[in-house]
Amino acid sequence: MTDCIKTSVLLEAKNIQLSYDDKIILRNINFCIKDIVRPGMQQGQVVSLIGRSGIGKTQLFKILSGLQKPSAGSITINDNKTVQAGDMGVIFQNYYLFEWRTVYQSLSLAVKQNALLKGKEKEMIEKYAADFQLNGELQKYPQQLSGGQRQRVSIIQQLLKGSDFLLLDEPFSGLDICVLDKVTDLLLQVSVSDEKKTLIIVSHDINTSVAISDTVLILGEEPGKAGATIKKEIDLIARDLAWKKDIKKERAFIETVEEIKNCL
Ligand SMILES: Nc1ncnc2c1ncn2[C@@H]1O[C@H](COP(=O)(O)OP(=O)(O)OP(=O)(O)O)[C@@H](O)[C@H]1O
Ligand SMILES: [Mg+2]
Repeated sequence: MTDCIKTSVLLEAKNIQLSYDDKIILRNINFCIKDIVRPGMQQGQVVSLIGRSGIGKTQLFKILSGLQKPSAGSITINDNKTVQAGDMGVIFQNYYLFEWRTVYQSLSLAVKQNALLKGKEKEMIEKYAADFQLNGELQKYPQQLSGGQRQRVSIIQQLLKGSDFLLLDEPFSGLDICVLDKVTDLLLQVSVSDEKKTLIIVSHDINTSVAISDTVLILGEEPGKAGATIKKEIDLIARDLAWKKDIKKERAFIETVEEIKNCL
């Protein structure tokens, strides 16, 4: 097993419940994300939240981001602070962008919120645009972009802001295979860019999510109980499946993907 320890709690979900009228959507959601420390390395955290369509992933995503209040329970980050809107970088399923600003203008606004990049704004925008194959798109308006391009702009926007937590809802949908590899590589790069950086990825794409994560949380229903809860937590580090290139061909990886499918 890769040498590492889990130390301080970075995020804790305590007894989250969500109902609309009489319909229970989420029930007793409890989990905690700890800082992973690898000797001699800077290592962030990558957690995947997997579940079938309509189970409540986006609802939990909004609660995690502080944009929606749960019916009960709480999300706390960094030493017990209740999460608030703006604490996390959020990349929505529908890639919301300011339609009246060019890509460059939107990215400029984002980078200005990050004190660490002061004086390097233009350089960083151009670097990310090149990494995400958007060099030719900086002067365009969002309606002139494809769905996949909008998504990449949305990701860069949040990366430039520099929050410790990045929440991504379905970041792999609508990407062709070449861009998918590029985006997963970049997310991995982001996850090692800072010891405290934590990515929470909400996805149906089990293969890609497992390949880039250290932990998988499965959101699903249990027999006889209304509402979705965390049915299983899989520690990919303990299974020696985290932080490895070409993991998808390994037997243990294939078995883990099957195990997740059977749990949905
Ligand atoms: N404002 C609302 N009022 C009532 N029910 C809602 C509301 N918003 C969402 N729901 C219900 O909550 C459930 C979970 O929806 P959610 O969008 O979280 O699913 P999801 O897991 O993200 O699905 P997908 O993978 O298709 O994006 C659905 O049954 C949906 O109908
Ligand atoms: Mg969703």
